[in-house]
Amino acid sequence: MQVLITGVAGFVGYHLAQRLLSEGVQVYGIDNLNEYYDVSLKKARLSQLQPQAGFTFEYLDLSDRVGVANLFATHQFDCVVNLAAQAGVRYSLINPHAYVDTNLSGFVNLLEGCRHQAVNHLVFASSSSVYGVNPKVPFATSDSVDHPISLYAATKKANELMAYTYSHLYRIPTTGLRFFTVYGPWGRPDMAYFKFVKAIEAGQPIEVYNHGDMQRDFTYVDDVIEGMVRVMRRPPTDPVLDSAVDADASIQPTTAPYKLYNIGNNQPVALSRLIQTIETALGKSAQKQFLPMQPGDVPITYADVDDLIRDVGFKPATPLEVGIRHFVDWYRSYY
Ligand SMILES: NC(=O)c1ccc[n+]([C@@H]2O[C@H](COP(=O)([O-])OP(=O)(O)OC[C@H]3O[C@@H](n4cnc5c(N)ncnc54)[C@H](O)[C@@H]3O)[C@@H](O)[C@H]2O)c1
Repeated sequence: MQVLITGVAGFVGYHLAQRLLSEGVQVYGIDNLNEYYDVSLKKARLSQLQPQAGFTFEYLDLSDRVGVANLFATHQFDCVVNLAAQAGVRYSLINPHAYVDTNLSGFVNLLEGCRHQAVNHLVFASSSSVYGVNPKVPFATSDSVDHPISLYAATKKANELMAYTYSHLYRIPTTGLRFFTVYGPWGRPDMAYFKFVKAIEAGQPIEVYNHGDMQRDFTYVDDVIEGMVRVMRRPPTDPVLDSAVDADASIQPTTAPYKLYNIGNNQPVALSRLIQTIETALGKSAQKQFLPMQPGDVPITYADVDDLIRDVGFKPATPLEVGIRHFVDWYRSYY
């Protein structure tokens, strides 16, 4: 079995590759090692993977149309997992074109590859940010997600639409996963928990947005990987009614072998509790600088995971204290 992982030098891609390699699965990983955050961290993740039997790395940009077509023309993949993306809500206000190049153009290149190769299963990362400021919690995949409040969220919603279309037209078994604030060892330096640990450890102040009045469904990376691996083994069978369309009687239902799941902890945590948990794990107090809500940010994320439990028998459950302790241990040994 050979799995293509795009964004393999990224946080989630690295952990998925480790898990699959430990189970004897062949992993073909691509990444463009871009400079959105510290490239040396991406290279360090890769250096953990490269000596392992069954791992192949190719430096490739998803927005390179010819390169991606060649990749699919020369390799056969049993499963394709798309994790390469321009991530981050705030950066989409600064560099919108990076989101278009990778998350839109690059994603079409990937879909075309899957179409011409007729892959058994395409799994792609979406995001809780598609729910925007929906007042109804927990967020369910059958809820309307027509009002994204950042370009990042809009590109993720676009991915879901584009993947649905390809799944419908070319009967590609496809699963979209809406991740909720993934954290853990080898994590992303642009995310709040990472910045907080870094600053508190160095005795520097932390920026606390919306005066700490924000909640996130923090999901430990091992839980995300467990959910992903279970989903990967279960390609949707044809036909599946689109649940969101199904819920709206005014729309003619179409079918596609397509499913969407939330992967979240189902337990939102206040920013203030995250900070206290980090203070306890580090044994140091934070100097807090309170700032207003940032454009594009949402007040709460909270995943309804009933579908995940029903279909793959799993629900993320690692307590924040445990996950943050693992992150702090990694942070101190790595840096
Ligand atoms: N980490 C989270 O909390 C979170 C939450 C919701 C959704 N997601 C989504 O999950 C996926 C993985 O996120 P992550 O946290 O591992 O992010 P990451 O930034 O660590 O990983 C993405 C990787 O993709 C690579 N990449 C970016 N553009 C590329 C391109 N054009 N061609 C090839 N490679 C490219 C980057 O170099 C990086 O190594 C992304 O799609 C992200 O949007 C993550």
